[in-house]
Amino acid sequence: MARRGNRRRKKAMVRIVVTSLVLVVGAVSALNYHHKDENVKTMVIKKDDKVKTNIVKNDDSLHFPDYYKTTKKDENGLLEVLNIDSNLVLVNKDRKLPDGYEPDDLIYPSIPLNGAVKEKTRMRSEAAHALEKLFAGASADGYTLTAVSGYRSYDRQVALYNNYLATRGEEWTKAYSAYPGTSEHQTGLAMDVSSPAFGNALEVDFVKTAEGKWLADHAHEYGFIIRYPEDKVEKTHYHYEPWHIRYVGVKYATYLYNNHLALEEAMPAKK
Ligand code: DAL
Ligand code: ZN
Repeated sequence: MARRGNRRRKKAMVRIVVTSLVLVVGAVSALNYHHKDENVKTMVIKKDDKVKTNIVKNDDSLHFPDYYKTTKKDENGLLEVLNIDSNLVLVNKDRKLPDGYEPDDLIYPSIPLNGAVKEKTRMRSEAAHALEKLFAGASADGYTLTAVSGYRSYDRQVALYNNYLATRGEEWTKAYSAYPGTSEHQTGLAMDVSSPAFGNALEVDFVKTAEGKWLADHAHEYGFIIRYPEDKVEKTHYHYEPWHIRYVGVKYATYLYNNHLALEEAMPAKK
């Protein structure tokens, strides 16, 4: 009898110990879970959490022109750029080129045409040589690019603009095409780039192709910027053009790329 009583007591003790263990482990897990949960909340609301951006400190060795000082008013009250010989010249919807402007150092870059029209591949000399390096760099990485449209004269832009107005309407034309006299293509510093793999088309989906991605990631290494970025429409006033690259030189292109700035944003604040 006494032995049976002892066994029952032992069994009861074991049950109490096991139950206690289960309760303790459960409570600790619940606490842990709660703790982790709190951590997550703390991470979100912590006051000293900084929003991570890729903005780097201004590099004093870079001097973007005081763009508001590099214009004069033409006879119609429009801003006309004065620093047309600079690789940093800013031409946009507010800033036109001098009437009849044509660069005096246009050349054909030495690149495979890949279906492009040779006559349309001209650029100013420095930009053309940079384009040659860009295409060679792409080729070394296994990508074939095409120089679809470079320098365009004022008259050519007139024909193009009028054709767009007639075929695509005013809204599309203003979003994608520069009014004659305000196109970067007339500076000889811009090139529209595509690829044979994309049918040499100038369409937004170019950025989804391997060649378009390569261009977006590497153009700055050769001195070019994607001039009309997707998220800068309110600055450039043009629709996203992943194909339109603009020569500014390696130092400035790298600065704009690293700081995620459109050319318009490099303009110093008006004093
Ligand atoms: N597509 C650009 C804005 C131009 O026509 O110059
Ligand atoms: Zn273009």
